Amino acid sequence: MEHADLKEKIKATLKEKNGILLAHYYQRDEVQEIADFTGDSLGLSFEAARTKADVIVFAGVHFMAESASILSPEKTVLLPRFDAGCALADTITVEALEKEKKKYPGAAVVTYINSSAAIKAASDICCTSANAVRVVQSLAEKRVLMIPDGNLARYAAKFTDKEIIPWGGACPVHQDLTPAEVLAVKARHPGAKFAAHPECREEVLKLADFVGSTSGIIEYAGKIGDTTLIFGTELGILYQLRTRYPAKTFIPASEKMVCETMKLTTLGDILKALTDMAPAVKVPAAIRVPAKRCLDRMLAVG
Ligand code: 13P
Ligand code: SF4
Repeated sequence: MEHADLKEKIKATLKEKNGILLAHYYQRDEVQEIADFTGDSLGLSFEAARTKADVIVFAGVHFMAESASILSPEKTVLLPRFDAGCALADTITVEALEKEKKKYPGAAVVTYINSSAAIKAASDICCTSANAVRVVQSLAEKRVLMIPDGNLARYAAKFTDKEIIPWGGACPVHQDLTPAEVLAVKARHPGAKFAAHPECREEVLKLADFVGSTSGIIEYAGKIGDTTLIFGTELGILYQLRTRYPAKTFIPASEKMVCETMKLTTLGDILKALTDMAPAVKVPAAIRVPAKRCLDRMLAVG
């Protein structure tokens, strides 16, 4: 089936089932194009928490659909590709976290939303790349275990006098971007500013004029007077940048920054999931209740 036909069928089925399609900024262009709401991890969480729809179709990765189901347990949350995982979320297990907690008694556990529901359930508060510093600052504890992304933890540590203990996880898509690659692109576009995602390594962030979440980078691209911007994050963001600011030029710091699992979901998968009402993501109450506390605490911070 052609893209146009698939899109029409998806829209009609969403209407019939009182559904909503949420898509992350790293999704394929055609998926972002028909989504009812596109956003970064924080924006998508807010949307999942407040939607009146009965069915949420999540074009993203597993932890995102899980978070939507935790926040709206009465709704059906569909993840069209059940195999869409997150390599960063997979860098920590509950057993490893419990061991770490024993090493630092009394420390608060801040978990990046890119983590499993079980990890959230064993943590004190969630954060995303958009609110990590605010979340850390909101805590009474002086000592904070920040899991699972070490780069985000080290970045947040620069803006607080709290003692941050980073976990050693990383997102391979962002971790693989090297300072040499950034410098080479900068040399080809002299004077262009460089905006990077905090999942990039510290040496890359040092080269950045702006560090922020995907929505932060999009906002920054609109605000600056410059017509060219180099960006260090997954290439899916280009759809938003080009659509919103057609007169500007956007240069990826590396063409290799593609998250394979974010790109799995096709229009065909979305239509199939809506037709079958499967695969659905459901979190058992024993994990959902403490995980929701962790997410709600973050949403209250904003
Ligand atoms: P944000 O959506 O918070 O920018 O995070 C990017 C990401 O890696 C999501 O998987
Ligand atoms: Fe996970 Fe990185 Fe892909 Fe985001 S870009 S889903 S953090 S592997």
